[in-house]
Amino acid sequence: MTASLQASADRRPWTILELLRWTTGHFAAKGIESARLDAELLLAHALGTDRLRLYLEFEKPVLEEERARFRALVRRRGEERVPVAYLTGAREFWSLPLAVTPDVLIPRPETETLVEAVLARMPRRESPLSILDLGTGSGAIALALAKERPEAQLTATDVSDAALAVARKNAAALGLLERVRFASGDLFAAVRGERFDVIVSNPPYVAESEAPGLAPELRHEPAAALFAPGDGTALLRRIAAEAAGHLAPGGLLALELAPAQAGDVTQCLREAGFAALACHRDLAARTRAVSALGPGGT
Ligand SMILES: C[S@@+](CC[C@H](N)C(=O)[O-])C[C@H]1O[C@@H](n2cnc3c(N)ncnc32)[C@H](O)[C@@H]1O
Repeated sequence: MTASLQASADRRPWTILELLRWTTGHFAAKGIESARLDAELLLAHALGTDRLRLYLEFEKPVLEEERARFRALVRRRGEERVPVAYLTGAREFWSLPLAVTPDVLIPRPETETLVEAVLARMPRRESPLSILDLGTGSGAIALALAKERPEAQLTATDVSDAALAVARKNAAALGLLERVRFASGDLFAAVRGERFDVIVSNPPYVAESEAPGLAPELRHEPAAALFAPGDGTALLRRIAAEAAGHLAPGGLLALELAPAQAGDVTQCLREAGFAALACHRDLAARTRAVSALGPGGT
């Protein structure tokens, strides 16, 4: 299909609108749901512009050099099913422009439910709040919270040093480096002996057994960011069991999870002494996060 884009393009100059229409049809035929949006994002990227500008210049012919860049992107999206964010190197989260690479999970809209939950239940303190983001990936959650709470001190951890490098770069680009500390390690091993007012995490929670049925795009994301052993709750359970030892009295713990995991994880939290449990739903009314107050503060 990309070859036909090449052949037609050689006959006469394609306009922006023609390229968008052709590519949208091509992506749709490949089963890509967000076909038009993906075509727009990739063409804007190839032209070094933004999506709005495309709409203002629909009739503009596209230069061969630009078409060649676009063709390469269309091939990688359509044939290899590489997610758009890895092709453009960018994704917006909480209205923050973030750089993303295949070393990090592409931040998801449902994770904004988790950020909202934390902001709604943030403990009140005289001193600046300390917030821990476990498994920070691109830094999405830590940076959104740092932006929303200019007085807070953030610690962002990950088991992947490559992910931490991306998160650090994002913090620098957003001018937040002074308030976000980065630490490498397996869950709480990265912050041994420390306590926080808030612990937030979007850990890997997909069961490995689900891998074969997942969208092909997910194969491009780091497996360590997606999958957890067993039914997918292994890391959620570890965090629930260990978090109280790293929370200040009455501190807040908030976790993203799959809707079907909410019952098991809230049970683990109760067993670990957490109180004031709450489930947080997305716009489709599915539970996407749970939060609770640690022992000693209710
Ligand atoms: C689902 S991704 C979330 C990334 C980011 N917080 C977000 O919401 O977009 C999970 C992250 O946890 C990290 N991770 C996986 N296992 C970990 C562990 N045992 N300790 C710390 N981080 C871990 C992964 O490297 C990945 O960056």
